[in-house]
Amino acid sequence: MTQPMILAHGGAGAPNEHSDGPQHAAELGIKVLRDGQIDAALRAVIESAVALEDDERFNAGTGANCRLDGSIQMDAILATSDGRIGCVAGISRVRNPIRVARLVMDSPHVMLCGEGATQFAHHRGIPDEIPMTEKAQNRLAAALERLKTGEVRPTEQKWRGRDMHGTIGAVARAEDGSFAVSCSTGGTSMMLPGRVGDSPIFGAGTMCGEHGAVCATGDGEEIIRRLCSMRVYVRLAEGADPQQACDDEVAAFPAPYTLGLIAVSRDGHGMAATDDKMARGMTGG
Ligand code: GLY
Repeated sequence: MTQPMILAHGGAGAPNEHSDGPQHAAELGIKVLRDGQIDAALRAVIESAVALEDDERFNAGTGANCRLDGSIQMDAILATSDGRIGCVAGISRVRNPIRVARLVMDSPHVMLCGEGATQFAHHRGIPDEIPMTEKAQNRLAAALERLKTGEVRPTEQKWRGRDMHGTIGAVARAEDGSFAVSCSTGGTSMMLPGRVGDSPIFGAGTMCGEHGAVCATGDGEEIIRRLCSMRVYVRLAEGADPQQACDDEVAAFPAPYTLGLIAVSRDGHGMAATDDKMARGMTGG
């Protein structure tokens, strides 16, 4: 029997002092991994993701960033090592996008986006609520002020956020040797309505297969360009140590962009982030 294990993160750039959030999420997940019921890896990463989406310190679900027009649109994905995938992109008016991703996984589709995703969620019984927080509104006001005054940093001229990107995610290995990954985000700051980041894109923000599960966080556009999760996964398939694979990918990520990664394989795990800044937790193994 394989030793179950789960790792969770609260986003690249999320203060390491907030690691109690992902640690709590991982502890909720390990209980599921040990409950002896089917689909433990998938259920565990959902449990962890919901806990992090409900923690407003992190940019997902409650706590999600606002778009430049003041709206909230979120992305989320779930994937398993037996090939199931469910994602939503640009979904609004739901508290937990990851729960909608789970419903999409059982639909004929892999991804739903925008108003169609929102309508699907409400039609399937997910309550209509806007996960807006005062903190998110204040962050948007500050971003708009920076745009108005022109006092943006070089990276913000490309609409990159200042400590405002962020994502939550979890990777799990179950006793039966199966894997699953969850990822959910409110996106970055200074983003147009309709912008989709790396998180719901399989191979970019997440990857899962028979060799393990990988979840990325950080500057979405750059993560998509490099297919970071796929690159780490390929290293796992080649037999690399997951810690080494995560470290190498983070080291190769071009400055000034930021990247965080968590990964679990059959017999190892890894966590790494630019400047080592990423709230994180893990248990099991
Ligand atoms: N990594 C989250 C995003 O860029 O949307």
